Amino acid sequence: MFDPLKSLVPGRQVLSRTLITINLALFSYILIDFLLYHTDYPVKERPSLLVAYSSPSVNPSLGSRQTTDRINENSECLHRDAYYEIEENHGENPWNQMKWMGEPARCKVKGHLIEKLDDINNFRRGFSLRFVDGVEDRTHVLPWLLASKESFHQRKRRVYLDFGANRFSTSVGWFLRMYPCDFTEVHAFEINSKLLKKPEKGFPEKENWADATANSTRVKRMPGVPQWMLDRITTYNKYVSDADNEGNQAINITRFIKEDLKLSAQDFVLVKMDIEGSEWPILNNWMDDPEMPHIIDELFVEIHYSHPSMTAYNWDAFKPKSRDEAKRLLADLRWKGFYAHFWP
Ligand SMILES: *[C@@H]1O[C@H](CO)[C@@H](O)[C@H](O)[C@H]1NC(C)=O
Ligand SMILES: *[C@@H]1O[C@H](CO)[C@@H](O)[C@H](O)[C@H]1NC(C)=O
Repeated sequence: MFDPLKSLVPGRQVLSRTLITINLALFSYILIDFLLYHTDYPVKERPSLLVAYSSPSVNPSLGSRQTTDRINENSECLHRDAYYEIEENHGENPWNQMKWMGEPARCKVKGHLIEKLDDINNFRRGFSLRFVDGVEDRTHVLPWLLASKESFHQRKRRVYLDFGANRFSTSVGWFLRMYPCDFTEVHAFEINSKLLKKPEKGFPEKENWADATANSTRVKRMPGVPQWMLDRITTYNKYVSDADNEGNQAINITRFIKEDLKLSAQDFVLVKMDIEGSEWPILNNWMDDPEMPHIIDELFVEIHYSHPSMTAYNWDAFKPKSRDEAKRLLADLRWKGFYAHFWP
């Protein structure tokens, strides 16, 4: 009988062992590469400019749905501290020069990338770096809007809640024009009735078309707010609060959302909140309420704190809250499942 082994001369045996060794090495390389870079197999931190405080504490109150949402993500994102990133080496980071729309945070929220929190340039980053004049600049949030990552047009109720609306153009106008969703309801709160004035009349869109013979511009004047849009807006001259108080014109905003508007996880709900410090108790309540991160799809909030750089804006009134605590609050909101941004 033909015995292949016996037929091998010694030189050939060495050669075939070498071939087997090379094949094994190649296979191991492919397997290790696959595990490290093409699966969610937990690996040690890859080289990065970012470091996160690491703590082994896992939040025991995470709901089961939140845990499932995150199962495919980096396991460290189960830890509260992973949402509170600190940045090192500012000088070497190109994002600190001109391209300040920023990098994504380490941990996704609701399955999507969200902007990294900025810890040294206030939260009005463009303004503090003098790239823009207006403290109200919001271009930094544009790449991270949830509705540009996922479509919500199928949802019957698409609701925009503006808490602390100020003038009509300040945020209601901005969200109606810029946010990539056709809202079916807008509820805007502003205690000062002189400040928030809904335009009295809708803009006559049909009459604004210029003659077809006109050479360049097709419309006669700058468009205003059309009537169909005004019809969807309700305004309230009330204080947004964590408790009802008729004498103070204060409204329990959690009750308003759940009981008056009857909003649920089936609706698309965007919240913008700028309520001069009252955000602290309200947001702390929402973090203990497992329903809220499911009801509220996206949250924009101005968190007020005291810091020398904000003295000119009278933010000393918000002592003893520090800028670091504000960042921690936003990081905790994300950890609890709120897709949350600093506003503006
Ligand atoms: C369009 O351009 C023509 C030629 O330049 C000019 O005569 C005419 O007046 C313009 N029409 C309008 C409506 O501006
Ligand atoms: C505000 O409303 C929520 C929801 O109905 C309720 O759980 C909470 O106790 C209310 N807060 C106060 C202070 O009554």
